[in-house]
Amino acid sequence: MTSGAVHQREIARNDVPSVIHTAAGLRRAVAAWRAAHPGDEIALVPTMGALHEGHLALVDRAHAVAGAVIVSIFVNPTQFAANEDFGDYPRTLGEDVHACGTRGVRWVFAPSAKEMYPPGDQTEVTVPTLAEGLCGTSRPHFFGGVARVVLKLLNIAGADFAVFGEKDYQQLQVIRRLAEDLHHPTRIVGAPTVRESDGLAMSSRNRYLTPEQRQVAPELFSALTQVSRQLACGDAEPAQAVHAARQRVTSAGMRVDYLHAVDAQTLAVLTDRPSPLGGSFRVVAAVWLGTTRLIDNVGPIHV
Ligand code: PAJ
Repeated sequence: MTSGAVHQREIARNDVPSVIHTAAGLRRAVAAWRAAHPGDEIALVPTMGALHEGHLALVDRAHAVAGAVIVSIFVNPTQFAANEDFGDYPRTLGEDVHACGTRGVRWVFAPSAKEMYPPGDQTEVTVPTLAEGLCGTSRPHFFGGVARVVLKLLNIAGADFAVFGEKDYQQLQVIRRLAEDLHHPTRIVGAPTVRESDGLAMSSRNRYLTPEQRQVAPELFSALTQVSRQLACGDAEPAQAVHAARQRVTSAGMRVDYLHAVDAQTLAVLTDRPSPLGGSFRVVAAVWLGTTRLIDNVGPIHV
């Protein structure tokens, strides 16, 4: 593998990426590139498009190691329930391809639903325990759909590693488990959450917020940060800290779907104070702000 610094220099920004619509086409392109660049790595960044800096930071993270990056753009129908925003989900392929070009992406893989789910497709993928609580409670179909499409994407791309955001922490843990359990050769890499200057985690769904809602939205991150600080320095019991944070976001006009301190690996809700010697935890939440569902999480913050 060549060093990241070397790749950063070699990456041609503002080149238009090739847009590929079929699995066979992507396989061919990847095989040809590998033959011409022996020893170099290829990375996959799976997305549903409507790209923002959070997604593009995953591309930068990928380029730190990989010689070529694939961004997949596919609004995956199986992870949306009938009452969710599949139809309304923003689809901005032209702008997304342009944004990918500015970050040196080599291939945009934008398959049709028929390409990803050929007629008769029926194989399901479940990661039952990790997918059970938190987002899995209010969106029971969600992680089944994510696991199914991510496994397909990993298999099609044959990348050396794939980058996912910590923003969707439970999703990242589900995908890590899936890849490990199924001995998938693609390494799963997590990357930190990219935030607006006021702390709001970037999300394709932030565009649904009214100006008033946008103003209060950063309260979620502030409340999670407060819990994390209290737990990291042993100031409070998890239940007490979490209760105060729920009250805080509720007063700001949010409806709490869930807000918990959880074990960073198993996602089990913490009942005891985390060990001051580096007990690994995550403070995770989903809230409704009007009709928009926001999710966020933070790790231990030591001050
Ligand atoms: P999407 O919501 O488009 O997100 C694609 C990737 O970008 C995910 O790994 C997500 O965690 C990451 N991401 C989103 N916002 C981020 C932010 N503010 N900072 C850092 N990373 C961020 O997640 C999905 O799509 C889908 O479920 C998918 C995995 C593609 C399967 O369909």
